[in-house]
Amino acid sequence: MLRSSTLILLVILQVSAMVLFRIWYLKANTCTSTISTNQKVHVLLLSSWRSGSSFLGQAFNQHPNVFYLMEPGWHLWTTMQKPGMRSMKMALRDLMRNLFLCDFSVMDSYLPDQRNISSLFMWSHSRALCSPPVCSLTPRDQFSNQTLCDKKCDSRGLEKVQEACTTYSHVVLKEVRFFELESLYPLFQDPSLDLRIIHLIRDPRAVERSREESINSFLKDSAIVLEQKSIPRVLQEICRSHVHIYKKATVNAPPFLTGRYRMVRFEDLVRNPLEEMAALYEFAGLEMTPLLGDWIYTLTHGKLPSRDATFKVTSRDASYVSQAWRNELLHGKVRRIQQVCEEAMAVIGYRAADSEEQQKNISVDLLVPRNSSQFRW
Ligand SMILES: *[C@@H]1O[C@H](CO)[C@@H](O)[C@H](O)[C@H]1NC(C)=O
Ligand SMILES: *[C@@H]1O[C@H](CO)[C@@H](O)[C@H](O)[C@H]1NC(C)=O
Ligand SMILES: *[C@@H]1O[C@H](CO)[C@@H](O)[C@H](O)[C@H]1NC(C)=O
Ligand SMILES: *[C@@H]1O[C@H](CO)[C@@H](O)[C@H](O)[C@H]1NC(C)=O
Repeated sequence: MLRSSTLILLVILQVSAMVLFRIWYLKANTCTSTISTNQKVHVLLLSSWRSGSSFLGQAFNQHPNVFYLMEPGWHLWTTMQKPGMRSMKMALRDLMRNLFLCDFSVMDSYLPDQRNISSLFMWSHSRALCSPPVCSLTPRDQFSNQTLCDKKCDSRGLEKVQEACTTYSHVVLKEVRFFELESLYPLFQDPSLDLRIIHLIRDPRAVERSREESINSFLKDSAIVLEQKSIPRVLQEICRSHVHIYKKATVNAPPFLTGRYRMVRFEDLVRNPLEEMAALYEFAGLEMTPLLGDWIYTLTHGKLPSRDATFKVTSRDASYVSQAWRNELLHGKVRRIQQVCEEAMAVIGYRAADSEEQQKNISVDLLVPRNSSQFRW
């Protein structure tokens, strides 16, 4: 027979186990519980202008587990007096580190004292800034409406933004102003971060065509970043930096980069959006949901027009659009781009069009197929 004190002990143990389980269960299921830093995944989407990074960014942004910020480095570029590349790199790295850790005090250097959420660059593009605890507008598992968010979700201070950041398992930042990888090495070795990089590359000929479409916004951008170089020089610089980053991460890469870098070509993304996105989510430790699957499909196949195409994801048939340069660029220009980007095109897998006929004949595939297994490093 059990002694009564043992029985009481057993009852106490069972009750406390139930209570603990209940607390754990509630914590796991309330969206506003804090997720400790060492359980978080930090993802950097690395790209360059006009490379389809809006699409990739949105695909992460709309994921319910993701706190996403678009180009936080913009604040740095526009605030610093002398935008020399060297000091920028370090400042940008430190800015990103703090944001990954949900420390928004780092914004003190770049924002006025009287700051609102709307002081953050492209804030209303971030679904998390239109959702609780920042704003009641968008439930966390739904897609946000930027227009409504713009109207309803601004408020004073960044406390709510910081609080929101701590409740997500993933912090994703997008940057289009990174031209090398080495300055990020300390972040890979930082035990408080679990950093993964997705490097998005697009055919430089398509980049040029897209740039021509929106020349004003690009010129303003490139003028700061590339210190007033001419357009072929800009493309050359972009191509060179893609190769540099890709090689650093894949050829004799330092051990801390193992499994933390993944390159994706925009063309593969639009040809096979669901598979490619599912693979990228998996790389980041996220799950594809049916809702996201539908959304990605509509975005890449749908026909929603867009008023201001410059910074928005446009929903024309993305796979077709990714080939539009072949009809719209003069062959002479295509040849010049192929010259300045020769190495990048060979390394990343874009074939040169040797004649105007070849360029305009869409049945000639200028994309070198890649095995998806090749992407895993
Ligand atoms: C966003 O909301 C506005 C105002 O209600 C509406 O007109 C617009 O169609 C919505 N946009 C989307 C993409 O749902
Ligand atoms: C910040 O928001 C307040 C209202 O909440 C508004 O009065 C003020 O003008 C805003 N400031 C800026 C810089 O947008
Ligand atoms: C386009 O390329 C395909 C495949 O190389 C070829 O069979 C076809 O004759 C070409 N069409 C024209 C109009 O050159
Ligand atoms: C791609 O994979 C196939 C089989 O899965 C293999 O035969 C082929 O050699 C691979 N190609 C490259 C470029 O690795």
